[in-house]
Amino acid sequence: MIKRIGILTSGGDAPGMNAAIRSVVLSASHFDIEVLGFYHGYNGLIADNSKIITSEDVDSIIQLGGTILKSARCAQMLEETGLIQAATTLLKNKVDALIVIGGDGSFNGLLSLQQHWSGKIIGIPGTIDNDLDGTDHTIGFSTAVNTALDAIDKIRDTADAFERVFIIELMGRHSGHITFNVGIACAAEQVLSFENFTKGSEQQTLQDLAKDIKAAKANHHHSYIIVVAEHLWQGGVNKLAEDLSKVSNIDCTACVLGYIQRGGSPDAKDRITATKMGVAAVQGLLDGKSGYMVGEQNNSIAYLPLNLAVKHTKTVSDSLVRAQDNILALTAKR
Ligand code: F6P
Repeated sequence: MIKRIGILTSGGDAPGMNAAIRSVVLSASHFDIEVLGFYHGYNGLIADNSKIITSEDVDSIIQLGGTILKSARCAQMLEETGLIQAATTLLKNKVDALIVIGGDGSFNGLLSLQQHWSGKIIGIPGTIDNDLDGTDHTIGFSTAVNTALDAIDKIRDTADAFERVFIIELMGRHSGHITFNVGIACAAEQVLSFENFTKGSEQQTLQDLAKDIKAAKANHHHSYIIVVAEHLWQGGVNKLAEDLSKVSNIDCTACVLGYIQRGGSPDAKDRITATKMGVAAVQGLLDGKSGYMVGEQNNSIAYLPLNLAVKHTKTVSDSLVRAQDNILALTAKR
């Protein structure tokens, strides 16, 4: 019988985490279950920094970015002593089940915790990177794509005015979900991501881009935008802009969009996804589930074992990659 659920948000915050907290709290309250919120990710579990979260506490938070529980990355969860301390806090506070909203690092922490604590565990995918298996979308991804798109639409205005080449770096850690989706949506002339770039092909890539930019200029295209996944180019987009400026003899301006992609009010899609997942997390626990991540596949709730959710097998849609590279990318052929 579940009387008390612990909840925390961990890792990179994502728009929609508050919507998920709200949904868990309201669902739990519906079933007369108490919710204990731990602050600053797993650090709050280790330090026993917690507070009962009531339905009143989650009033008017659905529209807020960030997370009311705060977030952090917690190296102590990689060590035995940290895990034991976390388990001790859960026992002391009589927590029957723990819900963690976060990404793959957070879920690995949750899996390790199982070695020291026998309560039930459920993960809710909250990361802008969309790099978890078993769910079509993670909470925060949609808002991050829209935020980046809005920013790049503005950059396009100034790029057009100055007929400039812009190289824009997008987040995503080691996945290209944000980069490819934003690239398509902002009609980037080029998308450079892990899915279409091989390490070692830097010189060839520079030559190809230089040739394409020159052809575009000759065809009177007004601006030229290249979106690039973070961690792809050694030295980042500043170095890429420098390298490309040299090879093409054309000024290229670098722009790192950065943390703007993590902030802001969640869009409708993220609010709805987070709400559905929060309800499903509590219902899953009541149905006896443990060790699962709540996901959404083809518009339906799905539960995937946590250890499978962190395998990083979900790739950017091949049709998206091929459409961009073979049809949409501005090439010298045009
Ligand atoms: O996982 C979300 C994310 O924003 C990634 O896209 C990015 O690589 C990373 O977090 C940045 O992490 P930090 O907040 O620790 O700098």
